[in-house]
Amino acid sequence: MAPRITVIGTGYLGATHAAAMADLGFEVLGLDVVPEKIEMLSRGRASIYEPGLEELLARHVQGVEGSSGRLRFTTSYAEVAEFGDIHFVCVHTPQRHGEYACDMSYVDAVIETLAPLLTRPALVVGKSTVPVGSADRLAARLAELAPVGAEAELAWNPEFLREGFAVQDTLHPDRIVAGLRSERAEQLLRTVYAQPIGEGSPFVVTDFATAELVKTAANSFLATKISFINAMAEVCEAADGDVVKLAEAIGHDERIGSKFLRAGIGFGGGCLPKDIRAFMARAGELGASQALTFLREVDSINMRRRGHMVELTRDAVGGTLLGRRVAVLGATFKPDSDDVRDSPALNVAGQLHLQGAQVTVYDPKGMDNARAIFPTLRYASGALEAVRGADVVLHLTEWREFRELDPERLAEEVAVRHILDGRNALDPAVWRKAGWTFRALGRPTA
Ligand code: UDX
Repeated sequence: MAPRITVIGTGYLGATHAAAMADLGFEVLGLDVVPEKIEMLSRGRASIYEPGLEELLARHVQGVEGSSGRLRFTTSYAEVAEFGDIHFVCVHTPQRHGEYACDMSYVDAVIETLAPLLTRPALVVGKSTVPVGSADRLAARLAELAPVGAEAELAWNPEFLREGFAVQDTLHPDRIVAGLRSERAEQLLRTVYAQPIGEGSPFVVTDFATAELVKTAANSFLATKISFINAMAEVCEAADGDVVKLAEAIGHDERIGSKFLRAGIGFGGGCLPKDIRAFMARAGELGASQALTFLREVDSINMRRRGHMVELTRDAVGGTLLGRRVAVLGATFKPDSDDVRDSPALNVAGQLHLQGAQVTVYDPKGMDNARAIFPTLRYASGALEAVRGADVVLHLTEWREFRELDPERLAEEVAVRHILDGRNALDPAVWRKAGWTFRALGRPTA
């Protein structure tokens, strides 16, 4: 009989994983401790914006008309423990306030709550991003607390999905990494990731520590690549070079590759910034901090980008931000997401506001989340409204909607035709032709 699956935590990762598992034909029970999330999910609605997710939920959530009925949600750990053969742990591990290390309390709470309820054989599979050594510690705790003893086992199976592509990345992962300690665990996980998910995806079996490290190493590499190109953007600006051409040219070298070489205001979100910091903190605890000192530089190059964008804006409006009207297009940390966690766009908007500018923000999906964090900013209901009367327009998240804006039409709304592209996603020639002063990070001024 096919194993029954539970998914604990229903954020970007958990909600998508639960829906994907149901889509593969498994019976799935999702758990979250936030009743509002469960209430929404139980109606086939997602509490987050992720392309394709609601469609997938509606296809499987029990009670939704025409659904397979394979997916249900609950707030009860007892129900989860009773139901599942495999329990996926998908809760978040945010950065601790004022520290580099991540907060493991949510993962710890899952094990502490679930384990004492495990009275039948179960595989607990960690998917959250955790400091290396956590799985080993959690496995010991599981063995200590589970009434079923050794029949409750842990595996570590990091997740690499990107927001905005969560459904696609979950159903067609580049690779599956599994930190395993027994053949039974391997067999169960291989069953879960059998066709079509595993089709063409390498299945890499490792020990616990390596599985945990694969995730943080991958994110550190990606962050480094972005900061590398942003460092090149700084040099290009000093030397009047063009970082977009430079990235295109070096990207043709297959050893370098063209992806993740978009210079701009840098990386944000709930993963890359906190993962590299948590990695440095953990390396320090392990006595290996020297190995990761470069990540400190990666982080500071990244944070410098935001300050630089603020400076460019100040220059653009004549040297002082006081009372200047700034239109900000984009609030989320990347397009196709409603996530504003550590968003460079929102951070820049906030800094401008604090320095006295009148900032009006528009984002296609991130408005509610942005408002919750920065209620004092002005919010517009569309790009045209946002730029009305603006002394300068900032393009800070590269939504398709912004790339398709008509510069001629926008020109009718603004006070001054001045645009700064913080994502190198707009075509300078088109904007300049429409009479705009166009400035982009790491590119020649004209
Ligand atoms: C990342 C990893 O890509 C994913 O594998 C992991 O599971 C979670 O963390 P995500 O946070 O969704 O995913 O976003 P990602 O697409 O990696 O982008 C992160 C940030 O980098 C965004 O703010 C994006 O705008 C920025 N970025 C990305 C750049 O500034 N330049 C680039 O070339 C690429």
